[in-house]
Amino acid sequence: MTKKFHIYTFGCQMNVHDSEKIAGILSVSDYEFTDSTKKADVIVLNTCNIRQKAEQKFYSELGRLEKIKKDKPALRIAVAGCIAQQKGDVLFNRFPYVDFIFGPDNIDSLQTWIKDITQNTGHVTQTTALRHNPEYHTKILPVSREGRIRAWVSIMYGCDNYCAYCVVPYTRGRERSRPWNDVYKEVNSLVMEGFKEVTLLGQNVNSYGKNLQDYMDFPDLLKIIHEIEGLQRIRFVTSHPRDLSEKLIDTMRNLPKICNHIHLPLQSGSDNILSLMNRGYVYKVYKDKIDILRTAIPDIAITTDIITGFPGETEADFQSTINALTDIKFDGIFAFKYSKRSDTKALYLPDHVDENIVSRRLAEILKIQEIITYKKNKLLEGKTIEVLVEGISETNSDKLTGRTSSNKIVNFCGNEKDIGRLVRINITEAKQHSLFGEII
Ligand code: 5AD
Ligand code: SF4
Repeated sequence: MTKKFHIYTFGCQMNVHDSEKIAGILSVSDYEFTDSTKKADVIVLNTCNIRQKAEQKFYSELGRLEKIKKDKPALRIAVAGCIAQQKGDVLFNRFPYVDFIFGPDNIDSLQTWIKDITQNTGHVTQTTALRHNPEYHTKILPVSREGRIRAWVSIMYGCDNYCAYCVVPYTRGRERSRPWNDVYKEVNSLVMEGFKEVTLLGQNVNSYGKNLQDYMDFPDLLKIIHEIEGLQRIRFVTSHPRDLSEKLIDTMRNLPKICNHIHLPLQSGSDNILSLMNRGYVYKVYKDKIDILRTAIPDIAITTDIITGFPGETEADFQSTINALTDIKFDGIFAFKYSKRSDTKALYLPDHVDENIVSRRLAEILKIQEIITYKKNKLLEGKTIEVLVEGISETNSDKLTGRTSSNKIVNFCGNEKDIGRLVRINITEAKQHSLFGEII
């Protein structure tokens, strides 16, 4: 009987893509995915510690697994991802029923562990940072992708920015770019498999190439990928506002396959807070870049991340963030309450903000943005927009679903043969989180 595996994924797109790599290795090792933790022979928890909430979710899932392991001692439990990297062996003290701990730069070590699984009865840890495992990011690992139309492709790992709130440089290490010819080859083979869209992944894609022996910057990487015949769309996340260059904006404008969307985390509208956060820009510089983007690409959608209640944030600082939202009118935002993270500089800043105030500020921001997003979506009613059809809608099986180049979800009645095609849709109704339309 085929053995079964289950994966929990707790984090960002990079974490989700890592789960695809983990699933890929398990699949080629003759394991089959199961939804049920009870049926699984191997369970992997791919962790995230960017905020406390994600971390707590992991600990409560892991706690739940103790009983399952008691009932089924042959079950093997592996902890992957950013908490595995940060905590390492220490996790075994609190959770002795965990068998294997491996970091985001050691996913390849799963290959050996799973091969020897019957002999692996003791605790095993693989969390060597990439500088000690330099081949990791040039290795080609099998990947079990979530869909057949859109695919994620890592172009760089780690981060050198050291924003005061962020744990990523301590978990994913220093910034390293993947050789451009490896990225090109991966995209090329995805297109041969039938994928139509790629999203290039990195913590700060705008600084791609810095440490490459065979240098290439991000706009030039986009240019060579754009040449791949059969590829319909290119997306990328995440861009750091400080490194967003005019060359990139020109490239986005000139290359039709690059989607009309940029995710550009602002974090705060207050210069005082931006400085404490070590973001490397002031609001005016950010806003000027938005203006240049909108002049170059008038229908570009811009989304952002906002943190409320960063240490030292006064009502006046918070008001500056609200002013930024009403001034820029983002297409959408991800807003978070500031979360204390170990190792980060922000932990040691004075004037931590009271939890009730942080919650109130977050709610206020979400309410303001809700109206902006809704109004922006409403403007699309009656318009004809190109949509890449991704599949059958999860919420309504009578409908197909896809995305506009600006990354808005559109649901419509259509024929399954359109899946994977670009179709023109007349938008008939706009809602808060998605659009509805008719195929032309
Ligand atoms: N607290 C709250 N939000 C955070 N982010 C990163 N670290 C923290 C933290 N400690 C948010 C930022 C970032 C997004 C991926 O997560 O807004 O852009
Ligand atoms: Fe992604 Fe950061 Fe969470 Fe790691 S800690 S999974 S890099 S968001």
